[in-house]
Amino acid sequence: MSGPTRARIPERTLREDRWWLAPLATFVVFAAFVVYATVRAFMGSGYYASPYLSPFYSPCLGDCVDGASDFGQPFQAFPLSAALIILIFPLGFRLTCYYYRKAYYRAFWLSPPACAVAEPHQAYSGETRFPLVFQNIHRWFWYAAVLVALVLSFDVVLAFRNAEHEWGHMGLGTLLMLVNVVLIWLYTLSCHSCRHAVGGRLRHFSKHPVRYRLWTWVSRLNTRHAQYAWYSLFSVALVDLYIYLLATGVIDDVRFF
Ligand code: FES
Repeated sequence: MSGPTRARIPERTLREDRWWLAPLATFVVFAAFVVYATVRAFMGSGYYASPYLSPFYSPCLGDCVDGASDFGQPFQAFPLSAALIILIFPLGFRLTCYYYRKAYYRAFWLSPPACAVAEPHQAYSGETRFPLVFQNIHRWFWYAAVLVALVLSFDVVLAFRNAEHEWGHMGLGTLLMLVNVVLIWLYTLSCHSCRHAVGGRLRHFSKHPVRYRLWTWVSRLNTRHAQYAWYSLFSVALVDLYIYLLATGVIDDVRFF
């Protein structure tokens, strides 16, 4: 037997607050990031200012400039920008993120635009059919995201050098990369899939004290996952922009020591 699945209220919403503000802000910021990231990814230049490597191009596995490839160039024959080889992983991770899904379903598809506001679409199949059923791939992107975060951490270590690759130096670029990688780790470790990886599929937490402890930490981080998602989005773009401006000679790095 099938019946009406939704309340029959003629008004689109009874809300009187500015509910449209959050999806509008999400739309503007997200669209700006997508445009910026797309332009930078296809540019194929301005991503390395010794010793700094842009997170958009790390690890640099294609036909990269001297000094940018710390893991070799196995895809040297790849004809397009080296960023395109690697960006699928962090972008896929963010695109399938449970929080971002909520954000862009609301802001871009208005499905629904906010709580207690009717969506314009007639039918609703959730994420049970093609293509949205592929959102379930998120947990696999999480493993890739951990590897990418490790590589970015390694880049931060390398950033404690000067342009001639001598150790024991630090500049504003080092600091920005350090903050960025901390935010990336907070975003990655607060992921819902991480929470499941460390504490899921257990019958008794009492028999797995270490995993219980990890699950407790991740659960605490998880409550701030949305904030980490935005902060790390801004920081990754800021680090890339800073390195681009250095690489193109627009600014000079501020050296601390
Ligand atoms: Fe957001 Fe996994 S839920 S990164």
